[in-house]
Amino acid sequence: MSKVHVYSSKEDRRLASFVLEEDESVLRCLHRHKMMTRSSCFGGGECGDCLMTVLEGAEHLPDQGLREKRTMRILGKPQDGRLACMVVPTQDVSVKVPGF
Ligand code: FES
Repeated sequence: MSKVHVYSSKEDRRLASFVLEEDESVLRCLHRHKMMTRSSCFGGGECGDCLMTVLEGAEHLPDQGLREKRTMRILGKPQDGRLACMVVPTQDVSVKVPGF
């Protein structure tokens, strides 16, 4: 049972921790818990709105897929960022997400 720990991007404090459901992306988990980060493409991996910073547990995320790599390159997003809609953690991760 993996958890996502969400930290504020404005302050250095944890805002919440949520248990991820099986095969659930970070974005879907946040939305299920009413943390409504922007997602113009509705989790399609194309808008880049859900770009998050992984503070801990990056090794528990899958490698970037072709769509995520493509979006990051087109939008000029940092290659070490991750799209919350594209990642399903296998163990606990700590992240900062836009808008919180
Ligand atoms: S919601 Fe659009 S890229 Fe993640």
